[in-house]
Amino acid sequence: MKIGLLGFGVVGRGVYDLTAARDDIQVAKVVCLEEVSLPDAEVTKDFQSVLNDETIDTVVEAMGGLHPAYEFVKAAIEAGKNIVTSNKALVATFYDELIPLAKEKGVLFRCTAAVGGGIGWLSELERARRSQTVESVGGIMNGTTNYILDSMTRLGLGYAEALRQAQELGYAEANPTTDVEGIDTWHKVILSSNIAFGISVNPESVPAVGISRITAEDVENFTNNGYICKLVSTGKMEDGKLSAYVQPTLFGRGALEAAVPANYNLITLVGSASGRMSFYGQGAGRYPTAYNVVQDCTDVLSGRGFYSPYGGKVNADNSVCLCYYVRGEMDAWLKENKEADFGTGIVTKPVSVEKMHAWLKAHPEAFAAALDK
Ligand code: HSE
Repeated sequence: MKIGLLGFGVVGRGVYDLTAARDDIQVAKVVCLEEVSLPDAEVTKDFQSVLNDETIDTVVEAMGGLHPAYEFVKAAIEAGKNIVTSNKALVATFYDELIPLAKEKGVLFRCTAAVGGGIGWLSELERARRSQTVESVGGIMNGTTNYILDSMTRLGLGYAEALRQAQELGYAEANPTTDVEGIDTWHKVILSSNIAFGISVNPESVPAVGISRITAEDVENFTNNGYICKLVSTGKMEDGKLSAYVQPTLFGRGALEAAVPANYNLITLVGSASGRMSFYGQGAGRYPTAYNVVQDCTDVLSGRGFYSPYGGKVNADNSVCLCYYVRGEMDAWLKENKEADFGTGIVTKPVSVEKMHAWLKAHPEAFAAALDK
């Protein structure tokens, strides 16, 4: 396999390093803006030279972002090159265009590293759904926010210091807002739901709230009451209705999620035959993520692409009701839905996910976390 590698950041450099000693997979060209010199690969700023190089059979996209990643990947598929990408924003946004296009052009497309970094979650999900009905997907899908929440809980670090460390360790996206506001997790649950349920979820219908509003007082309150806060995604298909959302969630100390440290992820599917299966590993970082890119390359070498049946666009319906911890202005709606006091905040009666997210949008200083059922 001869690879045209797009991007030479955290993941791209890792892919180069992990394939350097291999005979079967070689990075032939690297397209990047940085000035780097590599002993056995051509470095260029010109993507066209990858497209026009007939010896390159596979494009590995590790640039991140939507543009020009989308234009490059689309052009590479049209030129008959296989695609391996770690770019969740790209695949979640253009899923219903890129997957059918790859199929039409007869090229292999894989994106395992797009969700869960070093965990082979999407490959296993793809396998799981072949032999049973997947009922739900979700869990802790973002290493940066888990690192921040874990450091705040276990080490008593402030939010800003914990975020700075996560950035230094290379876990955070180029713009960490993407991580802390839940956008990264949002892309990941959309992509996971697409594969699990054979649909293309309308991203607009999936609400996401991150952790940027959490305070040291909230965390102390949770600890005092035996709870651990995690940023969690849910994609659940029940009676043909999809609920899908991203939000902070409080787990009791005995829950598996509560024990997930540092940049680790814990991603779960519930299947009609298998029941719960959870996948645990490093969800971010150079070599864990690059490892799954290389795994995808070896699957491409064996002719294995990544296709789910495609059943069309679906809107999530988030009328499902949950109880929430809320710290914020006690307006009429919150008073009406209050169940009990809870340290620095209150706990609500069951309220719909849809209404809770709408309320949070109107109260940007407030923090809410669902109580795990
Ligand atoms: N910024 C992402 C995370 C990287 O923290 O999980 C992996 O997608």
